[in-house]
Amino acid sequence: MKHLLSTVDLAADQVIGIMALADRMAEVGLRSVPKVPALRGRTVASVFFEDSTRTRVSFETAAKRLSADTLTFNASTSSVNKGESLRDTIETLSATGVDLFVVRHRSAGAPSQVARWTASSVVNAGDGAHQHPTQALLDAYTISRALGTNGRLDGLRIAIVGDIRHSRVANSNLDLLGRLGAEVVCVAPPTLLPTDRGDRSVAVNGDLDDVIDEVDVLYMLRVQRERMASPRLPAGSEYARRFGLTPDRAARLKSSALVMHPGPMNRGTEIQVDPGRLAQSRVLDQVRNGVAIRMAVLFTLLCGEDMSEQVLGGES
Ligand code: NCD
Repeated sequence: MKHLLSTVDLAADQVIGIMALADRMAEVGLRSVPKVPALRGRTVASVFFEDSTRTRVSFETAAKRLSADTLTFNASTSSVNKGESLRDTIETLSATGVDLFVVRHRSAGAPSQVARWTASSVVNAGDGAHQHPTQALLDAYTISRALGTNGRLDGLRIAIVGDIRHSRVANSNLDLLGRLGAEVVCVAPPTLLPTDRGDRSVAVNGDLDDVIDEVDVLYMLRVQRERMASPRLPAGSEYARRFGLTPDRAARLKSSALVMHPGPMNRGTEIQVDPGRLAQSRVLDQVRNGVAIRMAVLFTLLCGEDMSEQVLGGES
C-alpha cells in the first residue's frame, strides 16, 4: 500500500490490520516518552489548502510520535498567493525530500492528482465533498474500542445525521462502516442527501425521532454552508429543531449508545447539549484515537504492513 486516497481502496482485512496496529500505537502514546524511532529520518509534509484544526494537528502529532521530521505548508502564506500551481508546489516540496504528503484540498480528486506528480506517498486528509479516509478509520476504531468489537461492526445500527450531501466524512463512513457490517441509516432533509449514491443502497429516514431510541451510534454532522452554492436548508432554527441533538432527544438515547461528531461542532445547531456532560459522547475519544490511527497509517505506508517489534519496542 503506497497511498491512502479513499476508503474504497482498503479491503476490510486491511482496515482490521490498521486498527490492530493503532492499538499498539495508542499504547506508545501512554508511555512516559510517547515516541518511537520508526520514522526517524523520514519527512512528512502537511499540505493544507483548506482550514483545519484537528486533522492537521492529529497528523503532525502522529508523525512526531513516530520521530518523523515534519514540514507544514500553509497555502494562505505560500507562493500559491503569487499564482503558483498545485503541481509546481508539490514538485517543489518533493525536491526538498518529502517521503509522504498529507493533502487537504477543496477540490475532489486533488490528492489523487498529487499522487501522480510525486514519487512520495500521499494521504488524503479531505478532498472537497469526496473522501476523508482517516476520519472514517478513526470513527470505526472509536466504535470498535468503545464497544469492544475487535474491528467488526456487525449488526450495529448507526445513524448519520445532517449534511450528508456535502460531507466527505459521511461519504467515507457510509462506505467503511457498511463494509465492516454496520447497518447505516442517513437522517437528513431531502436537500441534504447525496444525489449520487453510486451503487450503494443506503437507508434513508427523514425523521430523527424515528431512530433516536434505537441507534447504537448517533453520528452528527456539521452543516457545511461553505460548500453550498445556494441555501439548501430550512431556517437554522427549524433545522436545529428537526435534526439537532436536543436535550429531549439526548434523554431518549440508549445508555449504551455512542454520540459522535467529526468536529468542528456548531453548538446550538446540530448539537444543543454539552457533549462534555453527555455520558454517551465519544467526541474527544475520536480525537484521541485519531492520533493512534494516523500513526498506524503513516507507519503502514512508510514501513510496510509488516510490523517490526524492534521498531515499536524501543523508545527514541
Ligand atoms: C471535517 C472535515 O473537514 O471534513 N472535519 C474533520 O476533518 N474532523 C468535517 C467538517 O468540516 O464538518
